[in-house]
Amino acid sequence: MTSPKLLAHPAAVLGLFALLGLGLVTLVHDHTQSQIAANERAMRLRTLGVLIPAGSFDNDLLADTITVHARALGVDQPVTIYRARQGGEPVAAVLSPVAPDGYNGAIALLVAIRKDGSLAGARVLGHRETPGLGDLIDADKSDWILGFEDRSLENPPEHRWRVKRDGGEFDQFTGATITPRAVVKAVYQTLVFFRSHRDRLFDAAPGTTIGE
Ligand SMILES: Cc1cc2nc3c(=O)[nH]c(=O)nc-3n(C[C@H](O)[C@H](O)[C@H](O)COP(=O)(O)O)c2cc1C
Repeated sequence: MTSPKLLAHPAAVLGLFALLGLGLVTLVHDHTQSQIAANERAMRLRTLGVLIPAGSFDNDLLADTITVHARALGVDQPVTIYRARQGGEPVAAVLSPVAPDGYNGAIALLVAIRKDGSLAGARVLGHRETPGLGDLIDADKSDWILGFEDRSLENPPEHRWRVKRDGGEFDQFTGATITPRAVVKAVYQTLVFFRSHRDRLFDAAPGTTIGE
């Protein structure tokens, strides 16, 4: 007959492996999460340089930031706003809103708005939209997102800030209207938010957190 001691032994080995496995999964998960965060940070910095070209500002863009809590920007978490200035005068603000209603969930954006309320541009920082359909919002996949450049709340007029399918100005994609509709809405709401809070966004001291 097998002794209980011997029976306990394989159980202990199994338990040990289970623990090791769990530890490994946790480690890989943590590493993946920090890798995703690092990739998004790197992407954000590259994109900032594209939307606000060097030479158009003379301050330290990465240090001249504030944080805002504003549901109008599509997210419950605080959003960082970068301020570009020339000789101390505001040039543009770069906001990172979220379009919460993409086809496959939230779409993270970077939206640069000049002081006069015109768009320096917008880019997608992260999404899970379908390759070949919704992912055409990505500047690496199509020029669609470039269509926001120089737009403002007056151009097109507010009722035309929609995809063409909904009577607006912006193209949808063949067989994919949900994704571009979500992005157009988020960019529009970011412009409205900027118009309502512009002076406060530029005047707040670096490091300030502004609630709604
Ligand atoms: C597997 C699958 C993936 C889809 N992915 C997307 C997507 O990423 N973005 C999108 O807008 N529509 C996507 N669609 C299409 C939507 O379900 C919807 O039909 C479409 O957005 C509506 O646009 P339409 O009125 O131009 O057909 C997908 C459909 C299927 C079946």
